[in-house]
Amino acid sequence: MSNIINVDISLDQEYQIFIGQQLAQSFKAYCEAHYSQNSIFVLIDENVNRLHGEKVAKLVSDFENTHIIEIPEGETSKSVRKWNNIINKVLEIGIERSTPILAVGGGVTGDLAGFVAATVLRGVPLIHMPTTLLAMVDSSIGGKTGVNHATGKNLIGSFYQPDAVFSDIAFLQTLEQKEWVTGMAEILKYAAIRNPQLFEVIEELIHQPLTPKKRWVGVVEESARIKADIVQEDTLEAGKRAYLNFGHTFGHALEKVSGYGEITHGEAVFAGMIAACHFSQELGHLVSDVRFSPFLSLYKKQMSSLTANTEELLEAMKTDKKVKDNTIRLVLLNKWGSPYLYSCEDYSLLRKSWSYTLDKFNT
Ligand SMILES: NC(=O)c1ccc[n+]([C@@H]2O[C@H](COP(=O)([O-])OP(=O)(O)OC[C@H]3O[C@@H](n4cnc5c(N)ncnc54)[C@H](O)[C@@H]3O)[C@@H](O)[C@H]2O)c1
Repeated sequence: MSNIINVDISLDQEYQIFIGQQLAQSFKAYCEAHYSQNSIFVLIDENVNRLHGEKVAKLVSDFENTHIIEIPEGETSKSVRKWNNIINKVLEIGIERSTPILAVGGGVTGDLAGFVAATVLRGVPLIHMPTTLLAMVDSSIGGKTGVNHATGKNLIGSFYQPDAVFSDIAFLQTLEQKEWVTGMAEILKYAAIRNPQLFEVIEELIHQPLTPKKRWVGVVEESARIKADIVQEDTLEAGKRAYLNFGHTFGHALEKVSGYGEITHGEAVFAGMIAACHFSQELGHLVSDVRFSPFLSLYKKQMSSLTANTEELLEAMKTDKKVKDNTIRLVLLNKWGSPYLYSCEDYSLLRKSWSYTLDKFNT
């Protein structure tokens, strides 16, 4: 059984996100209806292949030729070298314009495989099968694909929409706690910018990952729906999509100052959302970081203490590539569920919000 969300990209382009447990039937039916089933490339995260390889092999068993390519786990796989390497393999084996690429893994595999699909033969069909919480609620939706460059993350890539997304909750059974917590930050973001009820649901569920599964299906579905709603209103990131950056401008600075890899993106975003809430409250808006309090200990437990100081963080925000004319663009909240864009020129308030946030993590 799967629940389906429609994503309308434009008048003539739409795709569906299938969400549920054990989606084999829906997946096979989809492939039968949409592809000749001569050949498929499966780009799969190495850990996922070890843990779920058999299941994935069965999923694609109706194709005459299946080519499995493992992607080494970790952010370093999102590189031009790895992209080039896969392109070579795919072209040497032989691929046609109608041959689908199935991306099975977290955001790293999805972004890399998506960019391969976008570029080989000027684009072949892409199916996302996300296996982390973050990939199910965030990276598999919205069409951003790409790899990193020595000068920064995600600097090479393209918008490329998949034919379909299959989010099978059963994959999450093997996910490590750290990855749950990382993905949860994005769900809390959706709670803050669109649906505050998610705060209560997550508070209840976080102590019992995957039980009851039905409720997690509901959370993934609601999160995916929010992301899909926002991106379909703004597929090329010209306006509203910026709301998805709630907590991220602060979070990116923290990631940069702490050293990439020292804290996860989700941990940085969580801290960033506390700072953004504090900033909003200081401007007189009806929010406070109390809503994030039930989750703080969880993040603190797995993060080493934040050694970054306020001045370094401020500097990192000021030198961000997106900053124009010394104005830092922040996503703030008028109230819960109501984000807006704010041009920040008052650095003293930023200083205050960082100082408040660092205190939370270091006491
Ligand atoms: N395209 C977008 O819109 C978008 C949005 C947000 C993030 N991202 C990108 O996503 C990436 C992060 O994604 P992520 O957090 O999924 O990380 P990831 O892909 O590195 O996966 C995290 C870890 O989980 C393991 N894993 C994956 N599925 C598993 C499973 N079912 N069971 C056990 N282990 C499993 C992986 O091997 C890896 O070690 C970043 O590169 C980020 O830039 C992209």
